[in-house]
Amino acid sequence: MENDVKALLGIKASFAEEKINKYLPLTSGMQNTIIEAMRYSVQAGGKRLRPVLMEETFSLFGGKGDEIYCFMAAIEMIHTYSLVHDDLPAMDNDMLRRGKPTTHAVYGEAMGVLAGDALLNYAFETALKAFDVEASNHKAIIKALRVLAKKAGIYGMIGGQVVDVESEKNQLDITEEKINFIYELKTGALIEASMMIGAILAGADDSEINLIEQIASKIGMAFQIQDDILDIEGDEKVLGKPIGSDERNEKATYVTFAGIEKSKKEVKRLTDEAIGILKELPYENKFLEDLLSYLVYRDN
Ligand code: IPE
Ligand code: IPE
Ligand code: MG
Ligand code: MG
Ligand code: MG
Repeated sequence: MENDVKALLGIKASFAEEKINKYLPLTSGMQNTIIEAMRYSVQAGGKRLRPVLMEETFSLFGGKGDEIYCFMAAIEMIHTYSLVHDDLPAMDNDMLRRGKPTTHAVYGEAMGVLAGDALLNYAFETALKAFDVEASNHKAIIKALRVLAKKAGIYGMIGGQVVDVESEKNQLDITEEKINFIYELKTGALIEASMMIGAILAGADDSEINLIEQIASKIGMAFQIQDDILDIEGDEKVLGKPIGSDERNEKATYVTFAGIEKSKKEVKRLTDEAIGILKELPYENKFLEDLLSYLVYRDN
């Protein structure tokens, strides 16, 4: 069953990738270097989990229409920008991402900063194209844009990255509350945005959107704890990014806080809770359920 989910995820990820590629800018003009760097970072690979989660939540609520593709591309651009900046020397200072040299390693630090900025901006340029694609769903598109903007910003991913950086070399001062805050925001927020936007564009009501946010929040937390476990126990070749990055940066992670065994249990517990909420909804998407369970045991 694990292999089936992995294979199906591969197919869905390729489909998402096709949609993302369609929206990437083409290299031309005097500013072609930055476009090349944008394309490099996005096309390097990646699991495409956020656009897949978005599309699967969209289909959970019976969503139809092409405006979802603009948002699938946009969320992957924002996620990729967060990685490009996360790898910069001023942040985690990593040289390998998605199995390839990091964007700053190839294009230099200044282009790394600018390519990240450009991807964030281009994400909104792309999401706004939803208005051209779908004429009848304007209210939902505006709501989706609000979620995208907020979850990427200081009350979302950026806010989490700030406290993550500030907690470096400070493992003794870390509290569970602070770790929860960091994970909820730096990782949870974009996963919440992905699933909430899928629900919103499919016409889910506010109480349903709220349940989806809760599910995604738990999945985000579990996903980041698993990421920290893989930073210790993973295989660099499979992972496509360096192991031992957290230790080198003296990061305060859930694993340094609670130990590896408790962390593994927590990943499973949070995932089971998320799936429990998903099953309360009067709709079903078996692949989405399987995908969430699969993430617990992912090795990349
Ligand atoms: C990495 O995210 C950053 C975290 C939030 C842990 P992913 O593990 O989804 O990275 P890609 O997109 O597959 O490269
Ligand atoms: C990153 O957390 C979360 C982001 C918002 C980019 P990490 O720093 O642990 O992510 P990786 O391990 O470099 O992918
Ligand atoms: Mg980091
Ligand atoms: Mg990092
Ligand atoms: Mg990590």
